[in-house]
Amino acid sequence: MSRKNKKSDSAPSGGFAPKNNDEVAKEPQIIIQDAGRIYSRPALYDLAFGYRNYEEEVRFLLDAHDKYSTSSEDKSNPINIIELAAGPARHTISALRHFSSKVHSSTAVDISKDMIEYALETADEELGDPGMGGMRDKFQYIESDMRTIGQTDGSPLQPGAFDSAWILLGSMAHLTTNDDVISCLSSTSNLLCQGGTLTIELPHPRETFSMVDCTRNGWEVPLEDENGEEYGELKIIWGDDDDKFDPIRQIRDFTVAMDLTVSEDMKSDDSDLQSVKEIVPMRLFTYQEIEAMGRIAGFEVAGMYGALSDEVDVNSEDGAFRLVCVLRKIKSPVTL
Ligand SMILES: C[S@@+](CC[C@H](N)C(=O)[O-])C[C@H]1O[C@@H](n2cnc3c(N)ncnc32)[C@H](O)[C@@H]1O
Repeated sequence: MSRKNKKSDSAPSGGFAPKNNDEVAKEPQIIIQDAGRIYSRPALYDLAFGYRNYEEEVRFLLDAHDKYSTSSEDKSNPINIIELAAGPARHTISALRHFSSKVHSSTAVDISKDMIEYALETADEELGDPGMGGMRDKFQYIESDMRTIGQTDGSPLQPGAFDSAWILLGSMAHLTTNDDVISCLSSTSNLLCQGGTLTIELPHPRETFSMVDCTRNGWEVPLEDENGEEYGELKIIWGDDDDKFDPIRQIRDFTVAMDLTVSEDMKSDDSDLQSVKEIVPMRLFTYQEIEAMGRIAGFEVAGMYGALSDEVDVNSEDGAFRLVCVLRKIKSPVTL
């Protein structure tokens, strides 16, 4: 099956979902084939979140670094970027593909072998063959835990080697304790040069404060073949009505489900494209926590936005659907 798919016209609200979709009215048919492995279906994940305009999001991320970093006098120097919990690595690959004059190297990090394998195939498709001295040789994917990747002993990466780090689409929600978050931020801080930036994208805290009643976020992605003919759809639920929310730990047990329906003649044996459902505990953050834990890790908050766009104010009632914090490294992490 081709990886090409039509972007969803619908747009559900909240969480990791796209902006402005109405909640899904009808109950989708969810087939539970393999619970507990939502990120081991990278092709489904990639389809589900392919509504994003990666080129525009990366433009914002690079512009934010230009604006807030104090690491280099000469802003025209190409930079080294790293994305933690990068999944299919669409942003790090797009950075090299579309902004080659601004990016010297692009590194992705994730804990999931399946995501890494999938992303390396994408990198070969989009950046050319490795070993040819081209863009592909500026991209690397490292299997590691975002909590420890930059720890001083045993890291495969040099301290201070990166100018800008990204943790996108609420991936920090997987760090459910303060120890984990501080460890991740300190580790990232070690990898950044002085004055470098870390941009974190989270669900907007408005959601955290209305979490007593969990609501369903769902959307559908139509699938199209090379001729534009629809041959199926992917239904996604990222958070359901009866999810449990623990207001003390700020953890919601997210119901995550992806169900692919494909017409008979397009069915294949591709085991990567199946339907999955699982319950994933995810932490919801407030701005104050990011500011405080960032400070421990040697960061100050340099900028804030309501989306990966400099046109969306974080306080905008209608526009802001994410909390995007641009942190600047001002000193070494505190040892606790
Ligand atoms: C919501 S996806 C985000 C992927 C990507 N940032 C994006 O924008 O599409 C979360 C990713 O975090 C990864 N992940 C979860 N815990 C991790 C950890 N402790 N260290 C590294 N990656 C982790 C998962 O494997 C998954 O690929």
